[in-house]
Amino acid sequence: MPSVVIVGAQWGDEAKAKVVDLFGTESDIVVRSQGGNNAGHTVVIGDNKFVLHLIPCGVLRKGVMSVIGNGVVVDPKHFFEEAADLEKRGVKVTPDRVLLSERAHVIMPWHKLLDTLSNKVGTTGRGIGPCYADKMTRVGLRVVDLLDPKQLRAKVEEALVEKNCLLEHLYKHAPLSADAIVKEFTGYAERLRPFVRDTQLYLAEAEAAGKHILFEAAQGTLLDIDHGTYPYVTSSNAAAFGACGGSGTSPKHIGRVIGVMKAYTTRVGSGPFPTELSGSDGERMRETGQEFGATTGRPRRCGWLDAVAGRYVGRLNAFDGLAVTKIDVLTGLDTLKICTAYKVNGKTVTEFPASLPDLEAAEPVYEEMPGWTEDISKARKLSDLPAAARAYLKRIEKFMAAPVIIVSVGPERDQTIRVERAERKKS
Ligand code: GDP
Ligand code: IMO
Ligand code: MG
Repeated sequence: MPSVVIVGAQWGDEAKAKVVDLFGTESDIVVRSQGGNNAGHTVVIGDNKFVLHLIPCGVLRKGVMSVIGNGVVVDPKHFFEEAADLEKRGVKVTPDRVLLSERAHVIMPWHKLLDTLSNKVGTTGRGIGPCYADKMTRVGLRVVDLLDPKQLRAKVEEALVEKNCLLEHLYKHAPLSADAIVKEFTGYAERLRPFVRDTQLYLAEAEAAGKHILFEAAQGTLLDIDHGTYPYVTSSNAAAFGACGGSGTSPKHIGRVIGVMKAYTTRVGSGPFPTELSGSDGERMRETGQEFGATTGRPRRCGWLDAVAGRYVGRLNAFDGLAVTKIDVLTGLDTLKICTAYKVNGKTVTEFPASLPDLEAAEPVYEEMPGWTEDISKARKLSDLPAAARAYLKRIEKFMAAPVIIVSVGPERDQTIRVERAERKKS
């Protein structure tokens, strides 16, 4: 049974979690395969708002298994805090509902400290970058090492030789104690043990048994370590292909890739954002869209849609379908703008630049489309939307080179238009 990958098509916070939750009804397993608790995934169910950071959104659906794959970086303390929070609200986080890969890397106290002390790109400060850096330089500590007392002590002691040197001499920070860390993490190991599995094997068997597997990407394609706006990116592959390496799933087993795209653009933290709106226009979007970070509470930077970035993201992911979210936020704007090219030092550029100075210098060239004033939050069919909103969706389909299959008109589960094929043809 082919798997489905849900991917962010911008710089994160596209409302991926709402879309993952919608797909949850037809999934047996939901897998996170990259990132860590830098993510903030919001699902609104009636009066309840859940914000998940590390645990896959599948946990909110009964009968769905949630898997934290090998490509995720895991902060054990955070895992138990998030689990306790969910349990308090009636969501069971037990080993029959959540599994953790033995190969996932563990975020250690020095990762969090170094992330905060050396934060140059406006990270979430959760230790993500330093943990992935240690994974790549082959000095990281995996969940399987955490469960082995000898490995745990040896790896902590070895790491602290270098990390304490950095902390003390470069950052003038007190050194960390190996004994204290080993004690703390031995405690986590015992509590984590029941959740730990060979998740690659688990997923391969599930796939062979015809189970429906859904991959919940974190962040967005423009934050992808290889293809994003480097160095203002996160430290993992947030695009669709991250699902394979981060879970041990062959690309052969991926059936569909669904892109989630906000009807406008937001970005948290530093880095180039050619269509950013400053002043009152940006503020209006932030207020209407309630654009404040689900993880750090930081105000999100807001701007128009960017078809230059969109074409690039569409090509990278080869989306089978798009979920366009938060289109209700645009209601009341007279004119909507879509950036179709950049002017970079006097030259017109239509491909997304790799060069940071070029991206920083990029001035958007806009085309304009008429807006609408009707309340669309109760629309449940494409035909309930005003013609201007439908035209805007058509324009998105064109530059993303994929059909819109879902339109989200509010945070609630039922504030959703599922576009049927016949309806798509008619519109
Ligand atoms: P994610 O990280 O991609 O899962 O997205 P976030 O949860 O960080 O941010 C999306 C925010 O938009 C959340 O607060 C959602 O409840 C909210 N949301 C989702 N869909 C819609 C929508 O269609 N309209 C509006 N107004 N809000 C939405
Ligand atoms: P979700 O899954 C938006 C951003 C940070 C920073 C950069 C690097 O909710 O869409 P990191 O802590 O990952 O090293 O920070 O990436 N960032 C996100 N922005 N949504 C996210 O996740 C993000 N996760 C990381 O703000 O600019
Ligand atoms: Mg988010």
